[in-house]
Amino acid sequence: MLLGTQRINEEGVLEIGGCSTVELAREFGTPLYVVDEEYFRQTCRAYRAAFESRYPNVQISFSGKAFAAMALFRIVEQEGLALDVSSGGELYTGLQAGFSPDRIVLHGSNKSQQELEAAVAHGVGRVAIDNLEEVARLQAVAEARGATVDVLIRVAPGVTADTHSHIQTGKLDTKFGLAIVGGAARAAAERARQAANLRLRGLHCHIGSQIFDLEPFRQATEMMVGLAAELREAFGFELADLDLGGGLGVRYLDGDQPPSLDEYAEAVTGAVRDQCEKHGMALPRLLEEPGRRLVGEAGTTLYTVGVVKEIPGVRTYVSVDGGMSDNPRPALYGARYEAIVANKAGEPRTAKVRVSGKHCESDTLIEELEAPEIAPGDILAVQTTGAYNYSMASNYNRMPRPAVVLVTGGTADLIVERERLEDLVRLDRIPERLRA
Ligand code: LLP
Repeated sequence: MLLGTQRINEEGVLEIGGCSTVELAREFGTPLYVVDEEYFRQTCRAYRAAFESRYPNVQISFSGKAFAAMALFRIVEQEGLALDVSSGGELYTGLQAGFSPDRIVLHGSNKSQQELEAAVAHGVGRVAIDNLEEVARLQAVAEARGATVDVLIRVAPGVTADTHSHIQTGKLDTKFGLAIVGGAARAAAERARQAANLRLRGLHCHIGSQIFDLEPFRQATEMMVGLAAELREAFGFELADLDLGGGLGVRYLDGDQPPSLDEYAEAVTGAVRDQCEKHGMALPRLLEEPGRRLVGEAGTTLYTVGVVKEIPGVRTYVSVDGGMSDNPRPALYGARYEAIVANKAGEPRTAKVRVSGKHCESDTLIEELEAPEIAPGDILAVQTTGAYNYSMASNYNRMPRPAVVLVTGGTADLIVERERLEDLVRLDRIPERLRA
């Protein structure tokens, strides 16, 4: 499977954005995250087009948690998307990247006082209120600053999407948002409406991630518009914004067939129209906040192969110079990946190997990879690592986090530097009494 601008050149080497991945590995070192700028931009555009061609008033936000790096936020803004952030750190990154605050939506199921204050001080466009207490907390912060804040209510629509249980976020048994059943969502909406410094603009939900089935999106839309109608009955609420979150899946493996953006947009906008018609409601502005779908397939991680260990009659282990510190997803979610031996991309895949990371546990990146004969020094390109890889990277085993390069038209720009050993101890302190 080749994604975006990936191609195999005349020397049988994998190229991305017109750059040889072998050269990238040599120049920037490994592990290395490579982002295919053209593919990322194209996907942002295609996402917008799919919705804008079907619906009058749309705001597509990039879900910053998927890949929070300033240069990517710049691209997102250039492509006319807004930004969704889920922490003060992501908000700070967005603001530092020059994102206009009124095009930022703040989420979070347990926002700190500082996060609420930063949101109000900078005037973010929308705050999605997750719980009843937050109505009063945000009201107090807004009042103290003499500000008025536009808010959404984060609703748990009670929809179960068919994805890993760790990333199902819209079901009833969830820490996220306020349930429709039992009236919590309604109570929060009523309180928000009564809060003098809050303006209740709409409703938000996010049902999960890496979803291929369109039905849960339709169901969630039905629940959300139904709730809006109930609130209209109760207190004349007018749904200005309907934010349906993100969640559309991407291709990790060769056979993966997520819905196209057109199919997805057709399902979602169709459901919004149908439901609004059913309830005699004007069409709200439709907000979407994809993360994975925009950046997932545009990212590739390059590793250098180290030890190749053949256990006769058992299997061959190929160890690479990164692992769960740059990609915790296999360990956390049983996520599966496809990979290409970048310097042997044209060779037949005659071997089956297990790709392991270098961390102090089994650290399996790919259980079974069909590949050409792999030798130490080969460059392995693991695909679809654009979403939730860099952003979930850690320093486990004190591994410096990898660099990120942005490639396009044969040029590569460093957009996040590789951490240095000094960075690893930068925040460490040794108390005086331990110095002797
Ligand atoms: N909006 C909200 C409120 C969210 O919580 C999320 C993701 C998104 C949008 C974007 O969802 P996406 O389009 O990327 O599916 N670390 C996990 C994924 C967690 C997703 C959490 N929320 C993983 O690596 O699979």
